[in-house]
Amino acid sequence: MSLRLGDTAPNFKAKTTLGEIDFYDFLGDRWGVLFSHPADYTPVCTTELGRTALLKEEFDKRNVKVLAVSVDPLDKHYGWVNDINETQNCFVDFPIIADENREVATLYDMIHPNASATATVRSLFIIAPDKTVKLIITYPASTGRNFYEVLRVIDSLQLPSKHSLATPANWQPGEDAIVVPAVSTEDALKKFPSLKIVKPYLRYTPVPDENL
Ligand code: BEZ
Repeated sequence: MSLRLGDTAPNFKAKTTLGEIDFYDFLGDRWGVLFSHPADYTPVCTTELGRTALLKEEFDKRNVKVLAVSVDPLDKHYGWVNDINETQNCFVDFPIIADENREVATLYDMIHPNASATATVRSLFIIAPDKTVKLIITYPASTGRNFYEVLRVIDSLQLPSKHSLATPANWQPGEDAIVVPAVSTEDALKKFPSLKIVKPYLRYTPVPDENL
C-alpha cells in the first residue's frame, strides 16, 4: 500500500555509496529528505543531485539529512558521482542507495508501472524527526524537481508555533504566516499581538521568534 501523509516512514537497511545504513539510525533525530530518481548517468538526474549537493549548507541549517535512491548498482553510482561532481561543480557527500532489488522503491511505492515498469519515478519524501511523513511529491522522469521548493516546505513545516500557524500560497521565509482556523480570534490576538484580520477566517501574523 502506498504511504500517505502522517504515516510512519518505514525503516530499512540498504547499501549506499557511503556504506551500509539503517535508515532510522542514519536520520537520528534529524529531519530527512528521501528522494528517488530514474537512473544513473541521465541528464536531469545529474542536475538534481548536483543541485542538492550545492544546497548542502541550506539542508544542514535546517537540520535535514538527505538520502537518494536509485535502482542502479553501487559501482555505477561511484562513477556517476564523479561525473556529477565534475559537471555540476559540486561535491556529493550524501549517500545514494543502490536499490538493485527494489526493496526501498517498493516500500516507498517509487515505481509507477504505467510510467516505467523498472525505473523509479521522481518521488520525494520529507520525514520529520518523529519519523512521520510530512510531504510526498512525485514528478515525472522528464521534469527536474525544484529543490528551493523543498527547502521552502521544510521552512513552513519547521515554523515555530507550527500548531497554530500555516503558510499562504507562495509564502517565503520572512513573510507573514496565517493563523489556522482551529484557533479562535480571541486566542490568536493573545498569542499574536500583531494579528491582521482580513476576514474572520483569514488572519495574518508575522512569525514570532520563539527562540528569543
Ligand atoms: C533524466 O534524468 O534525464 C531522465 C531520466 C529518465 C527519462 C528522462 C530523463
